Amino acid sequence: MPKRDRWSSDDEEDGGNCKTKASMQSNAAAQLNSEEVNDKQDTTTTASSQSKTTSTQKISIPPGYRLHNPLLHGCRSVYDSYERLSHIDEGTYGVVWKARDTSTDEIVALKQIKFDSEMTKEGFPISALREIGVLLSLSHECIVTVREMVVGDTNDKVFMVMECMECDLQAAMKKNTTPFAQSEVKYMMHQLLSAMTHVHEHWYLHRDVKTSNILVHESGRIALCDFGLARKYEVPFKKMTMMVVTLWYRSPELLFGESIYGPEIDMWSIGCIFGELLIKDAIMKGQGELDQIQKVFKLLGTPSDEEWPEFSSLPSAGTFKWKKKDGCELGKQFMVNSFSTSGQSYLSPSGFDLLSKLLTLNPKKRISAADALNHSYFLDEKGVKMQAPQFFF
Ligand SMILES: Nc1ncnc2c1ncn2[C@@H]1O[C@H](COP(=O)(O)OP(=O)(O)OP(=O)(O)O)[C@@H](O)[C@H]1O
Ligand SMILES: [Mg+2]
Repeated sequence: MPKRDRWSSDDEEDGGNCKTKASMQSNAAAQLNSEEVNDKQDTTTTASSQSKTTSTQKISIPPGYRLHNPLLHGCRSVYDSYERLSHIDEGTYGVVWKARDTSTDEIVALKQIKFDSEMTKEGFPISALREIGVLLSLSHECIVTVREMVVGDTNDKVFMVMECMECDLQAAMKKNTTPFAQSEVKYMMHQLLSAMTHVHEHWYLHRDVKTSNILVHESGRIALCDFGLARKYEVPFKKMTMMVVTLWYRSPELLFGESIYGPEIDMWSIGCIFGELLIKDAIMKGQGELDQIQKVFKLLGTPSDEEWPEFSSLPSAGTFKWKKKDGCELGKQFMVNSFSTSGQSYLSPSGFDLLSKLLTLNPKKRISAADALNHSYFLDEKGVKMQAPQFFF
C-alpha cells in the first residue's frame, strides 16, 4: 500500500473554513507561548551557527539533537516520519492512533485533531490549540509527553505526536477487577497529585480530570492527558465558563453555576478518583445535573451556613430543591481499617482523612494539590509504602 494511503483517515471530514496547510505549518510558533518561542529561538540560533560550522568542518551531532526545527521548516510530514499501526481510541476532539517512528522504530501515539465545522469557526479547533500549547509548556513524568506536531497533505490532517501508553485508567480498571492493594492506590494518588501540583503551579487548570484522561504505562506509571479544556488561571480568579468537567467528577460549586473558580475544581475530581480507585467504580454516577447534586448531597450531606457560608449566593442555589440532610455518609461508604466484602481496597485513617479533605463541599476549605502531597497518608513512616500497580493488559 502506498505510504500516503496509510494516513488517510477512515472518517475524513471537510477541511471547511480552516487555514491553508502552508500557513498552518509556518504558524507552528503560534502553538507555543512566548516563553517557548524564546526557548526555540535559542535553539534556532544554535542550529544556524551549527550549520555554518558544518560547511567548514565536520562535526558529530549529539544523539537526540533535532536537526528539524519546526520554526524554520514547518511541521514534518506524517507520511515521511510515521507508519500507522492501529487505532487506539476516539474521543470528542481527536482520533488516537498507534504508530511507529520510521527513523527510530519507537512506538508513539498520534492524536489526529478532529476538524468539526462547529469547532473550527475561527480556523483551527480552539481545544486542540489549547491542548498543544499547554502540553508543550508542561514537562512532568506524570503528564503525557508531546514530541512534536506533524501534518498530512490536506488542511485537516494535523497530528499531535505523544509517548504511547498502554491504555487509560478507566479501561485498565475494567480489565483488572480485583481491588488494588493499598500501596498501589497510594502510588497512583501520589503520581496524580504530583502532576496536578505541577499543572496548578504553572497557573493552569485541567478542567476535565477523570479516569479516562489518565493514561497507564506498562510499568504502572500513570500520566495525565487530554488538556483540551485546560486554561490559564490567575488570582484573584476571573470569570470562566462553568460548562467544564465531566458530570460525575464535577464539583458542587460548578453544579450550582459558579463561574469564578480556581484549582479547587480539579481537586474535587481527584477526590472522586481516589474513591474510584478504592472501589474500582465511579463513586457518584449522576444521570443529569440534578441527580448529580442529589448524589453529592447523599454522600456528603447538604451544605450548612457554617460549613459553606457563600453557598446560598451561588447562581443556582435557589433553583434546585433538595431535602436537608445533616451528616455525611462518606464513612459508611468508605470503611476505615477494614477489608469490606464489597471489594473496597484497604483504607487507613489518614487515607480517609485525605479523601474527606478532597471531597469537601466548600471549595475554600478543600485541600490543595501541594498540601495533599504533604498529607500524612503519604508521609506516615509506619504506613504502607507506595508501589506501582500491576495491570494485566
Ligand atoms: N498517548 C496515548 N497513549 C495511549 N492511549 C492514548 C494516548 N492519548 C490518548 N489515548 C487514548 O485515547 C483516548 C482519547 O484521548 P483524549 O482524551 O486525549 O481525546 P479527546 O478527544 O480529547 O477525549 P474526550 O472525549 O475525553 O474529550 C484516551 O481516553 C485514551 O484511552
Ligand atoms: Mg479524553
